Amino acid sequence: AAIVEHTFNVEDISVQRLCRQQVITAVNGTLPGPTINAREGDTVVVHVFNKSPYNLSLHWHGILQFLTPWSDGPEFVTQCPIHSGSSYTYRFNLTGHEGTLWWHAHTSFLRATLYGALFIRPRQGHSYPFPKVYQELPILLGEWWNANVVEVEHNATESQGAPQQSDAYTINGLPSDVYNCSQDGTYEVKVKQGKTYMLRIINAALNAQHFFKVANHTLTVVAIDAAYTNHYDTEVVVVAPGQTVDVLLRTNQPRGSYYMAFTPYHSAPAITINANITRGLIIYENATSAKPVMPDLPAQSDTPTAHRFYTNITGLAGGPHWVPVPRHVDEHMFVTFGIGFTVCNNFSGGCSGSTRPLSANMNNESFVLPRGRGVSMLEASYGGDVDGVYTRDFPNRPPVEFDYVNPNVSSETFAFQIAPKSTKVKTLKFNSTVEIVLQNTGIITTENHPIHVHGFNFHVLAQGFGNYNATRDEPKFNFVNPQIRNTISVPVGGWSVIRFQANNPGVWLVHCHLETHLPWGLAMAFEVENGPTPSFSVPPPPSDLPKC
Ligand code: C2O
Repeated sequence: AAIVEHTFNVEDISVQRLCRQQVITAVNGTLPGPTINAREGDTVVVHVFNKSPYNLSLHWHGILQFLTPWSDGPEFVTQCPIHSGSSYTYRFNLTGHEGTLWWHAHTSFLRATLYGALFIRPRQGHSYPFPKVYQELPILLGEWWNANVVEVEHNATESQGAPQQSDAYTINGLPSDVYNCSQDGTYEVKVKQGKTYMLRIINAALNAQHFFKVANHTLTVVAIDAAYTNHYDTEVVVVAPGQTVDVLLRTNQPRGSYYMAFTPYHSAPAITINANITRGLIIYENATSAKPVMPDLPAQSDTPTAHRFYTNITGLAGGPHWVPVPRHVDEHMFVTFGIGFTVCNNFSGGCSGSTRPLSANMNNESFVLPRGRGVSMLEASYGGDVDGVYTRDFPNRPPVEFDYVNPNVSSETFAFQIAPKSTKVKTLKFNSTVEIVLQNTGIITTENHPIHVHGFNFHVLAQGFGNYNATRDEPKFNFVNPQIRNTISVPVGGWSVIRFQANNPGVWLVHCHLETHLPWGLAMAFEVENGPTPSFSVPPPPSDLPKC
């Protein structure tokens, strides 16, 4: 195995997009940032020099970080931010999975421009569990604001509404010819007829899941979230922020030009996203000059199509890096989540709903990062003194039970709408197995939330609509070939059941990957205790770990 070393200079650059010049924060002057190409088993070393005006951190989304929790990256969880003018080196190993992952800033909305791909190919001498592909193409779906993204987030947390919508979506950083002044800004790729290509699709957008299609071509899914799947043929790929999908594309159509295109999947019926269908071009060698073919995309609210894709894929049981489902469960958790309102300081009948900014919660606790408490959660955990940083009483169940998806306006649901702010973790014994029923709630509106678990891949045992019902739903669990993921899109007004073994000591954030929902508090964290020996324990922090 090799050492793959990169230097990331984070700095503000000026770019031209959508008829204007704008200053963005970028790595090594590029958007998207550099691609990390490595093989399973390699060690990645990234020296980050923060020359931007912001204090920030980077996260390696989906990397397990086994015994390297100091390199996971979420600010105030596993490290204090890298201050403007300082540096930090991330070091981690890529053992245990293959496929497409990515990296992004884990600070405010900065991930809008600080992101890039991370490809894990099979070890030297090993091959993909499918025939060799002719070429691999990174497809990063991004989101673009004309405004400064840190201000966009700030406004959303201080005001009473959702954040200002983005001004464009992008493919590999380019908004495409559907937007003004972007005629030259369309991602294009030339292909040969009669070959198999692999598209490594990453949804790096902040607040939108996407439907993705290539005109006239069927796509074959072979991996999701860097876990191999049984081959699944589909016209449309659905991908939530944080998730990745690897598909094979066979260039078996007449020589011509075909658009790849995507549009948001938005599950909350009351909300639509004003977005153009964003596109890139696939051009066959010696193509006729005929007009490129555009695919028909599903409607924004097409939940049946999204649900079919999200639930039909199965894991490649017995394939490379397959992990069987752990059968004995030590911790059963039932975790509700949804959007509500912030507690008003003066709430005693004097604070009306219309003046409360939005907030969000899990099990009626609205998560706050321990900003300004001197150390990150992981440092507090490692040092054994967590007082004033976090508490260990994250509940296994919500405090009251009600009809989560069709709530009456009762005192229970009212309490859920104004969940208290807290920084609570659930502590897990090393190697214990956790099963979580993730239950969507409809306390303001219900929508499909992509829930990401740091530090672990999990099995997705079942998913459905309505309130979870153990008697009805448990017999349907897939123990044979469930999907393995790091980010699960929990159905709108529904639930997902996930399971994993807590074999990775450290502090691991769990949160909605719709970026607006994280500062609103749709998060919790796991603290996994050390194993029996030093070789299963959190090592001492690296000497360059940033100070708060
Ligand atoms: Cu991709 Cu906590 O994030």
